[in-house]
Amino acid sequence: MPNAYISGTGYYVPPRVVTNDDLVKDYGIDTSHEWIVKRTGIEARRYAEKGVGPSDLALPAAEKAIENAGLDKSDIDMIIFCTLSPTYAFPGDGVMLQEKLGRCEDGHRFIPALDIRNQCSGFLYGLSTATAMVKSGALKHVMVVGAEVHSAALDLTTRGRTVSSLFGDGAGVSIVSATEEDRGVRNWHLGADGRFADVLCQRVWDMRERPFIPQDENGVGQVKPEMMFAEMNGRLVFKHAIERMVAVLMTACWEAGITLEDVDLFCFHQANLRINQYVSDMLKIPAEKTVHNIQRFGNTTAATIPILLAEAEESGKLKPGMKVACIAFGSGFTWGAALIDW
Ligand code: UT7
Repeated sequence: MPNAYISGTGYYVPPRVVTNDDLVKDYGIDTSHEWIVKRTGIEARRYAEKGVGPSDLALPAAEKAIENAGLDKSDIDMIIFCTLSPTYAFPGDGVMLQEKLGRCEDGHRFIPALDIRNQCSGFLYGLSTATAMVKSGALKHVMVVGAEVHSAALDLTTRGRTVSSLFGDGAGVSIVSATEEDRGVRNWHLGADGRFADVLCQRVWDMRERPFIPQDENGVGQVKPEMMFAEMNGRLVFKHAIERMVAVLMTACWEAGITLEDVDLFCFHQANLRINQYVSDMLKIPAEKTVHNIQRFGNTTAATIPILLAEAEESGKLKPGMKVACIAFGSGFTWGAALIDW
């Protein structure tokens, strides 16, 4: 049975920087740089322009990951696309990226494209799926994408400030490849608790209703703001995030037969710097063993961990031979951890 390792990483964020002050100045939101930094650590985020979807952000990230892996795009056997902000309700962005990568042209195989809708844990669900497929021997190179365009669906008014000040756009890609070397994704542990499905959600429609979106007398769909934008019980999410991230990391280490001291680099999901500091303090993880980008990019949901990995590799902070722990928690609730020998 081959091992499954991450052969290449890449990321892309759109060029437009939106600072906390810009939320006040450009959108008239009653907030402040001090409030957002103190509660979340976020200083700025990126917003994509109109006309740009998650698969557009994913394309340069995917091309970079392919290049870094020393592969050709024709080597990729499958795309797993993790996002909570897909371009359409259906189909998913995986097929869009497949087409943008030129994988529908003559001479190419029509590789499968799978979309995963597991929010902040999406990338770790995707990484686990890719690892299982590669280890089974069925596929050699699986591209795992985390990409989000949040800026189109944020309530950028004072009413929506609790949620809208947190999120940003971006994409990260990891390619999971087969190897006979003694390295790679050692184990993963995933979890979910559907009792909290409504605690952090963006409903938009309700498929139990007839029709699923209310219509006016002219047949035009009407979506009220409370349905259109994400809603969150922030305090409840905060508390559960700390508990679950601690537990899933400890469980993954226990299952792998290692201790936290054995881990060289911790990549936490970037929802709130304070959450990650709590987790680090509880587990006595030194700051120099963690990487963060929430200060610059906000919460990019499924993209946070693959962007962290790509940035850490690019800067030289992440090197072959290191033991990496990736940990996530988010809407669902869903959570996960993966341990990787880089
Ligand atoms: O990746 C998805 C997972 N999401 C998370 O992990 C998020 C977890 N939760 C959090 O990070 C925090 O709950 C928040 C940062 C979202 C909010 O911080 P909080 O300390 O829990 O604030 P709160 O929601 O209890 O609100 C406290 C006050 C409220 O005002 P009143 O009612 O006390 O007058 C809010 O309206 O802060 C107000 N507030 C803001 N004020 C200025 C909320 N958002 C803002 C804002 N600027 N952006």
